[in-house]
Amino acid sequence: MLSLVVLISGGGSNLRSLLEACQDAEYPARVVAIGADRDADGLDLGEEFGVSTFTVPYSSFDSREAWGDELLAVIRQWSPDLVVLSGFMRLLPARVVAALSPNLLNTHPAYLPEFPGAHGVRDALAAGVPETGASLIVVDTGVDDGPIVAQERVPVLPDDTEDSLHARIKIVERRLLVQAVLDIANGNTNLKEHSQI
Ligand code: GAR
Repeated sequence: MLSLVVLISGGGSNLRSLLEACQDAEYPARVVAIGADRDADGLDLGEEFGVSTFTVPYSSFDSREAWGDELLAVIRQWSPDLVVLSGFMRLLPARVVAALSPNLLNTHPAYLPEFPGAHGVRDALAAGVPETGASLIVVDTGVDDGPIVAQERVPVLPDDTEDSLHARIKIVERRLLVQAVLDIANGNTNLKEHSQI
């Protein structure tokens, strides 16, 4: 059974999909803890699904490195096989990435390397592209430029808003995430082969 720590900053709708998948006795992964860098709404999913939660508030630390060291220490208490950044809107310090990678995945709402960064959906809309996508990557020390584990195209519709496009992208992200965790747990995906670190 693959044990997961999932880090969030927002509502955690992709996390919910993973938690629902983990309720299936046949699904070979379990979320052992949900972590956040702020008082994220998605932390409520911990109570709903009976999963422990923790918060390491970025604002409580003097430096990114000090925050990252504490976050890593708390993650390690759970000894996860895999850490998933699922809407975690904070760059991890390089030493945290080095400590966890390649067992560190990030979901991103664009077809990387197109539109990296915090506003992948907005940037794709502003660029006027006919299609964007969803990606799942191994985190490395750059911004959304790690090895791609899975990705899929999503069309941009003429009357799309950022919210409507993001909602359709998230449907794809959830499927990619649940499938990728299954493949990793079953040994069909080897993250070491993807990693450049
Ligand atoms: C997801 O679309 C995820 O890919 C994105 O935040 C959303 C979280 O939604 N992450 C990034 O943009 C990271 N650069 P959720 O909180 O509803 O799961």
